[in-house]
Amino acid sequence: MMIGIVNEKVALMAKDNTASSRTVNKDSLPRNIVWILLACLPVCLAWYHRDILGLSIGLSILSYVASDAMIKGVAPMLAEAGRAGTDLNKVGRPKIPESLGVVVGTVFLVTIFLFLPFPFMSWFLETGSKDSLEFPFQRLGEYTAALLSICSMLFLGFADDVLNLKWRHKVVLPAIATLPLLILYRVTFGVTNVVVPIQFRAQLGPIFDLGVFYYLYMAAVAIFCTHSINILAGVNGVEVGQSLVICASLIIHSVIGIFSGIVAVKDHCFFALYILLPFFAVSLALFKSNWYPAKVFVGDTYCYFAGMTFAVVGILGHFSKTLMLFFLPQIFNFLFSVPQLFGLIPCPRHRLPRLGPDGKLHPSEVSFDYHGLSALGQVSVELCIALGLVKEISKCEHDYKHGREMVVTNFTLLNFLLVKLGPLHEDHLAMALLLFQSLCCTSGFFIRYHISSYFFPPS
Ligand code: UD1
Ligand code: MG
Repeated sequence: MMIGIVNEKVALMAKDNTASSRTVNKDSLPRNIVWILLACLPVCLAWYHRDILGLSIGLSILSYVASDAMIKGVAPMLAEAGRAGTDLNKVGRPKIPESLGVVVGTVFLVTIFLFLPFPFMSWFLETGSKDSLEFPFQRLGEYTAALLSICSMLFLGFADDVLNLKWRHKVVLPAIATLPLLILYRVTFGVTNVVVPIQFRAQLGPIFDLGVFYYLYMAAVAIFCTHSINILAGVNGVEVGQSLVICASLIIHSVIGIFSGIVAVKDHCFFALYILLPFFAVSLALFKSNWYPAKVFVGDTYCYFAGMTFAVVGILGHFSKTLMLFFLPQIFNFLFSVPQLFGLIPCPRHRLPRLGPDGKLHPSEVSFDYHGLSALGQVSVELCIALGLVKEISKCEHDYKHGREMVVTNFTLLNFLLVKLGPLHEDHLAMALLLFQSLCCTSGFFIRYHISSYFFPPS
């Protein structure tokens, strides 16, 4: 009787989730044109008032509309070209278009290309200067470096999606994409100083030159940001959702910086806003199609694009420490994943939660021979079980210690949430993760604006 009810439920869900019921609706061309024309109004208004921030907001609205229309248009083309992924947590495992990050990434780049001349034209108008030596080349260099790195990451991310690269190859991709940023940074600014916390100033002085380590640090930030978003993934809406929350936090942080009254900080914050606003807009359009039940997948292309955008904004906006505060869930997920990422414990191809017969997501599992693990691997397993981070699934407790196979939940934040909260429906798990991300970003603000003054008192 019970089995009959469950089967009926599963059949119903399968009906809801067939590929045909979740294909992207193609809007009619005239409707898209009307939306795009409407979105052009704020752009014209802002240009008429010579308001550069208003222009950035207007172009961002336009990029949202363009992304939304293009996702609907390009998704079927990507699927036809073979770029479709299996939605692993749906009954019937439908195939849906993948790598839509390439569409929103392209719209983002075009938006910035269109926007870029305006802040510089306004410089000529405001200063009335015709002297090219006074032109803010350094600022132009910052934009060029940022765009080159984001553009390279988009290209490499798409290559990863198409070629399905191995993890040992994937790791170096962001390092390659950061090269334009590092090289342009070297030839234009070259500042490698960091402010020393007040507790260490007696030994190191107020400012410390990190030299070549500053470049390694910048590369590490880029590698971390890109991969940490890519490994906190696998549930509809999670990749873009977390990026939207981080982006919103960075926008709020930049707006606070603009009101700080310090000219250099204000300048950096405007730079950050001009990049973050269109990023938020195109991501919002993608989120609409990627939220449960997903009509499209974002692909590694989007994860890398998002990570690199945050990295360049954090580095060139000079708030990489604050950026890390907004990445607390990703830092936790990365540290938690270390035993699997570094091969101490086997790492299956997919660690995303699995769909149970009750239609809810359950933590996914990994099985291995306990005695086949290195000493470090065994300690990691024991420690994570003791801390309640992973759940041991083996029926007979401690039997694995006598040679039996051990089964534990995978070492990821999403599985951890399911261990603690119990099985959840896919959209509820995504909401729980986004709530956690928002709470962490709020704590990040608290640390940045209250606790950090203990280490870096305002001058
Ligand atoms: C990373 C994770 C992997 C996780 C995968 C999910 C590590 C080391 N790797 O691998 O554990 O399973 O991301 O993205 O942590 N998918 C869904 N639903 C979604 C999103 C993705 O089913 O909402 C599936 C689809 O089959 C899609 C595939 O995941 O095709 C994409 O996986 P991919 O991005 O290639 O995996 P990795 O980034 O290598
Ligand atoms: Mg991925």
